[in-house]
Amino acid sequence: MKSFDVAIDGPSGAGKSSLARRCAAELGFLYVDTGAIYRTVGLAALRRGVDRKNEKAVAGILPELDIRMGYADGEQRMFLNGEDVSREIRLPEISMCASDVSAHAAVRDFLMEMQRKLARENCVIMDGRDIGTVVLPDAKLKIYLTASPEARAERRMKELQAKGLEQPFEEVLADIIQRDEQDMNREVAPLRQAEDAVLVDTTDIGFDESFELLCGIIRQRLEAEA
Ligand code: DC
Repeated sequence: MKSFDVAIDGPSGAGKSSLARRCAAELGFLYVDTGAIYRTVGLAALRRGVDRKNEKAVAGILPELDIRMGYADGEQRMFLNGEDVSREIRLPEISMCASDVSAHAAVRDFLMEMQRKLARENCVIMDGRDIGTVVLPDAKLKIYLTASPEARAERRMKELQAKGLEQPFEEVLADIIQRDEQDMNREVAPLRQAEDAVLVDTTDIGFDESFELLCGIIRQRLEAEA
């Protein structure tokens, strides 16, 4: 079969990563979490103390960054100049760093080819904010996955708790609303639903049901293409 790519976009905490990872494992696709790539740039900017809102300053560090992805036990790992930063990029403070640096065209251009190459060489389920609109505009299937900010904050809080990271609900919700605002209103590649994307709202459905729904949509499209 010629490459079949699935693009999943949506706001933070909608369950994209966990759902996409499980669907990819179930259906034999390569899962690519593009948020992790932006998080790696965000971490690098934080470590180097550059002004993350300043495009020139952020662009200045890009030539020094060797960002690579790998897979270990089916899990995507991120490497920054050879160091495995997969755990560190998940810290809550890195979320906003990633959102800040991702607003710059220089950063998006820098990461574009890496994402497209992965899709050229594999059948991918790729998730992010601009996959269906910019990175893979010809993806065979586009899904826009969303849920209410409150439902997303609730889930994010439980995820953090499971990792031993406690954060009050109000803080998690405020962070989600601020990131939505930033990601949806930036000039370059803002988060929005592609015209040809299927909308999936998981506010009132649990993980297993969302997984069945998503897998069902992907299977249906695969059969139609076969
Ligand atoms: O999916 P995430 O929460 O790990 O992403 C972190 C930030 O990276 C998010 O706030 C916006 C940015 N991002 C982006 O701009 N484009 C993508 N394709 C993926 C993430």
